[in-house]
Amino acid sequence: MKVAVLGAAGGIGQALSLLLKTQLPAGSELALYDVAPVVPGVAVDLSHIPTAVAVTGHGKDDLADALTGCDIVLIPAGVPRKPGMDRSDLFNINAGIVKNLINGVADHCPTACVGIITNPVNTTVAIAAEALKAKGVYDKNKLFGVTTLDVIRSEAFVAELKGLDVAKTHVPVIGGHSGTTILPLLSQVEGVSFTDEEIASLTTRIQNAGTEVVEAKAGGGSATLSMGQAAARFCLSLVAAMQGADVVEYTYVQVDGSDDAEFFAHPVRLGKNGVTEILSYGELSAFEEKAKADMLDGLRSDIQLGVDFVNA
Ligand code: NAD
Ligand code: LMR
Repeated sequence: MKVAVLGAAGGIGQALSLLLKTQLPAGSELALYDVAPVVPGVAVDLSHIPTAVAVTGHGKDDLADALTGCDIVLIPAGVPRKPGMDRSDLFNINAGIVKNLINGVADHCPTACVGIITNPVNTTVAIAAEALKAKGVYDKNKLFGVTTLDVIRSEAFVAELKGLDVAKTHVPVIGGHSGTTILPLLSQVEGVSFTDEEIASLTTRIQNAGTEVVEAKAGGGSATLSMGQAAARFCLSLVAAMQGADVVEYTYVQVDGSDDAEFFAHPVRLGKNGVTEILSYGELSAFEEKAKADMLDGLRSDIQLGVDFVNA
């Protein structure tokens, strides 16, 4: 199994790479790519951890070597938010970064599974899809927007509020990855009930959790450590599925024939070649139905922005 992290010298990239160095199966390769000159040093640093995962560092002119032979590519490259910004304010810088890196994926490892972390995810995943289509190598089963952070936050917040064992707390989160497009399905959490006030306030907290971190870091960036954990969980699930395990994760994927939006986070069964089945997210409560209806236009226009960026 070869995994590449593009943007590996950043806040997410370093946390994620550390978790993968210690948790990927023995015999795996981990390729770290970044335009920042520190990236070879990050690779040397990690290589001193005694696990059977080989780490290589690749600077800005070495994308081809980082990507050749990859099974999985994770992309956290790009700028994070500062207080007062919305994720969509990152579009001008991050759209081009994602498009260029995806062109590299198309050229050097066109059959790899790709997890997009770079914001605005609602849009950057559409950019990646269009860029892969333009190169004639798009496989909708192998492109993912990583929305696992919304899931782990929801699990943490629900378990904390209700005094549950967080390891046994599962919270479905569907939709997109910004503001009200993040839709936790609290009505489906097993073994617990919420008042209407709890549902309203928990939903808002989950939707604003990224901003909670951005404000607490006071100009120093956005979530990196929790995102590293979330991306590692997603990657390790994908690795397990590629090695034959039956795994379901919530992730933002292309959904054909849906009345929601072209890309939408669903529960997805994973296998050797990425998505094997997009599962139904089940019945929604009246609160969740309204929240979904209210956010769909915004999500669709986020997606269209990405389509237009590549095709204009
Ligand atoms: P960061 O600034 O700490 O790191 C970004 C890294 O990307 C830097 O090392 C930079 O050198 C590198 N980079 C920039 N352009 C590049 C290019 N063309 N090729 C390769 N590397 C490049 O930022 P961060 O905190 O790690 O956040 C990265 C991105 O992830 C941001 O867009 C942020 O909004 C997003 N994010 C997404 C989620 C999510 O849930 N999907 C969560 C947190 C952050
Ligand atoms: C998050 O949810 O923490 C990320 O999308 C980063 C951000 O800008 O909020």
